[in-house]
Amino acid sequence: MAKEVLSEKRFTHSLNVAKAAQELAEFNHCDIEKAYIAGLLHDITKELPIEEQLKLLQIGNIELTEAEKASPALWHSTTAAVYAKENLGIEDEDILNAIRYHTSGRAGMSTLEKVIYLADSISEERHYHDVDEVRAAAKRNLNEGVMRKLKFAINALTAKDRPICSNTIDAYNELILKQNNERTK
Ligand SMILES: [Fe+2]
Ligand SMILES: [Fe+2]
Repeated sequence: MAKEVLSEKRFTHSLNVAKAAQELAEFNHCDIEKAYIAGLLHDITKELPIEEQLKLLQIGNIELTEAEKASPALWHSTTAAVYAKENLGIEDEDILNAIRYHTSGRAGMSTLEKVIYLADSISEERHYHDVDEVRAAAKRNLNEGVMRKLKFAINALTAKDRPICSNTIDAYNELILKQNNERTK
């Protein structure tokens, strides 16, 4: 079904994310099948027109924060979770949350959520300059990989004077506090 609603490029990305998610799930003792499903569906609404996305937000009864309203690039994650639930009958909360928070992250992410958050950045077709290092970090330690991506996202947003969604800040605070506490033990 992903093939029917996505362009070839986006479908290839989704397949690659699903594969990367499976691999990360295996390394991190997480459900491989759930990782594949969440990976395949994470961007399922990315190419829907804005009106359709708004409709899905309504169906899901989702109230966006001001920062989220100002960042339409985030909407597809939330609407993809609604779409997966309403149109594809996915009921597993962990899969739905992994889809919903794949762009912003959030505090208290499950292993599956972290797997999808990272798999989206290390899929086979990604070619940014330190992608191999991020791939290695993600496989070495899931939290280390998540922290790298959060820092990268926060830096990129502040560099462009863009708002940062509170979920991203909460995710960063949670991990940095954990990391600092571990260092002072
Ligand atoms: Fe996405
Ligand atoms: Fe993606």
